[in-house]
Amino acid sequence: MNIKVLSLFPEILEAYFSASIMKRAVAKGLVSYELINIRDFAYDRHRKCDDEVFGGGAGMLMKPEPLDRALESVGAPGVRTIFVTPSGRLLNQAMAEDFAHEDKLVVLCGRYEGIDQRIIDTRVTDVVSIGDYILSSGEVAAMVLIDVVYRLIPGVISGESLAEESFSSGLLEYPQYTRPEEYATMHVPEVLVGGNHAAIARWRLKASLIKTLAYRPELLNTIDLTGELGRLLKEVIDEGGENEPRTANSGRTGEK
Ligand code: ADE
Repeated sequence: MNIKVLSLFPEILEAYFSASIMKRAVAKGLVSYELINIRDFAYDRHRKCDDEVFGGGAGMLMKPEPLDRALESVGAPGVRTIFVTPSGRLLNQAMAEDFAHEDKLVVLCGRYEGIDQRIIDTRVTDVVSIGDYILSSGEVAAMVLIDVVYRLIPGVISGESLAEESFSSGLLEYPQYTRPEEYATMHVPEVLVGGNHAAIARWRLKASLIKTLAYRPELLNTIDLTGELGRLLKEVIDEGGENEPRTANSGRTGEK
C-alpha cells in the first residue's frame, strides 16, 4: 500500500513511519509512504495556508488553494482520500478493513478550525473522526487511522494475532497472563496452566463476555447471542457480570 500524508507538519509523522512495526513493513515493501508539506503548495510571499472564517467565529481555517494543489498533485479524488476531522464518520474496525483493501491511500491532516468545505466537496472521498474528542492536530488522528489500517495488510502482523484481537469476534479480548505463574501473591487462573484446550477456550470466551459486559455492553447488541455464547452470557449475568472484571485469583469465571 502506498500512503501519502498531506500535512503542515510532516515532521510529526516522520518518526512514526521510521520505527518499529511500520519501519519493518516499509523495509519489506508492504508499505511505501510520502509525506507532503501542504505549505510547499502555497505560492504567495508568506506561503500563507490559513485565513479567517466567513460569517465570523473564532480561529482560522485552512485556505483552499494550497490544499487543492497539494491534493491534485497526489491524484485526489481519483484515489481514496481521507480527511481526518472530529466532524467525520466515526472510525471502526470494519472501516479500517475496507481501507486496508486499497493500493493507495491519501490522508489529509487538518489544523486550526478545519479546512474550506469546497476542498472536502471536490477532493475528499472519506471524512473520518477517530473518536468523540478534539485533538489539537490532525496529524495525531492520521497516525491512528494509518496504524489501524496498515497492520491489516497481509504480512504486516501474523494472521493468528489479528484473529485473536478485540473486535475480531465482536467481543473485547480476554485477559492474558505471562510468567511468573504467581506474582505478588496473585495466581494466574488455574485453567490457563492446565493444558486442557477446550477448557481454556471456554474460559477465554467467558472472560471476553465478562469484560465486554463491564466495559462495552453496547457491543453485545451487535453479535449473535444464540447458542453457547448466549448461555455463557446468562451465566455471567447471574454471577454479577456488571462488576469490574478481575480474573486473576478470583475464580470469577467459575472454572478451575
Ligand atoms: N482532529 C482533531 N480531532 C480529531 C478527531 N477526534 N478525529 C479526527 N481528526 C481530528
